[in-house]
Amino acid sequence: MNYAILGATSGIGEALARLLARQGHNVGITGRRTDRLQKIQEDLSQDRDSSPDYGIGDVYIQTMDVTQTEKAWDAMLALEAAMGHIDVCVLNAGISNYQGSHTAEVEAKVIQTNAVGFASLFQRMFDRFEQQGWGHLVGISSVAGLIGYYDSAAYCASKAFVSNYMQGYRQRARRSKALLYVTDVRPGYIATPMTEGKRNMFWVVSAEDAAKHLYNAIRKKKARAYIPPRWMFAGWILRYAPAWLTDRL
Ligand SMILES: NC(=O)c1ccc[n+]([C@@H]2O[C@H](COP(=O)([O-])OP(=O)(O)OC[C@H]3O[C@@H](n4cnc5c(N)ncnc54)[C@H](OP(=O)(O)O)[C@@H]3O)[C@@H](O)[C@H]2O)c1
Repeated sequence: MNYAILGATSGIGEALARLLARQGHNVGITGRRTDRLQKIQEDLSQDRDSSPDYGIGDVYIQTMDVTQTEKAWDAMLALEAAMGHIDVCVLNAGISNYQGSHTAEVEAKVIQTNAVGFASLFQRMFDRFEQQGWGHLVGISSVAGLIGYYDSAAYCASKAFVSNYMQGYRQRARRSKALLYVTDVRPGYIATPMTEGKRNMFWVVSAEDAAKHLYNAIRKKKARAYIPPRWMFAGWILRYAPAWLTDRL
């Protein structure tokens, strides 16, 4: 299978890329940090050279900034051309304002990356997959999308956008003649550069464990997946809790 992972230079995306390549899949990885992409590619080709029987997939790299929507789409097409075709596209690129930056500039950046950049690539990949006749779109939302939070209002809102957007596209997928799947992935707290130094986290899992859960959700073509799965119950509570309670968080 050919997987494209957008935002694979660190954290969950990097862990997923390494896992998939070691499972024998071809992976196309993107991000703004070209040096990180090259390092991951080199690591995996060394693994392949040292254990040729292990069947490590090919790794393709493509520098991409999702906020530059037109250039990002050109980069996506270049990646697709290099890989031949794409079966699964994981839209994982994202930033947060967990660190408490609530300036208009920071919030606009979060929205431009997590919502505008996401939707631009998601919509175009959906059309591309429809033309191709098949494809699986996987978007990384968050448990944070279920509720607003004083520390990261723009981030929570951007992830609510991602989940609702994908719900609409899942309905479109069902109406399509093509074989299309849409998976909404909602991680809880994952230990990655994004959450470094963040306090009061619980049920934290490593990026590697998150990648295993994510791979499982992709293989099962789940409509929605919480990572780790126990967040589903917390998700229900958060979603239906009354405002007098959630406003006190
Ligand atoms: N960690 C958590 O607890 C947690 C929880 C829920 C959801 N999530 C979501 O999971 C996803 C991955 O986050 P992570 O925790 O693995 O954080 P991370 O290590 O900071 O990874 C973020 C990835 O997104 C890429 N990215 C950011 N801005 C980009 C841009 N403008 N253009 C292209 N790529 C960009 C980064 O690549 P470059 O910097 O190289 O561009 C990097 O590869 C995010 O969508 C995040 O919101 C994380």
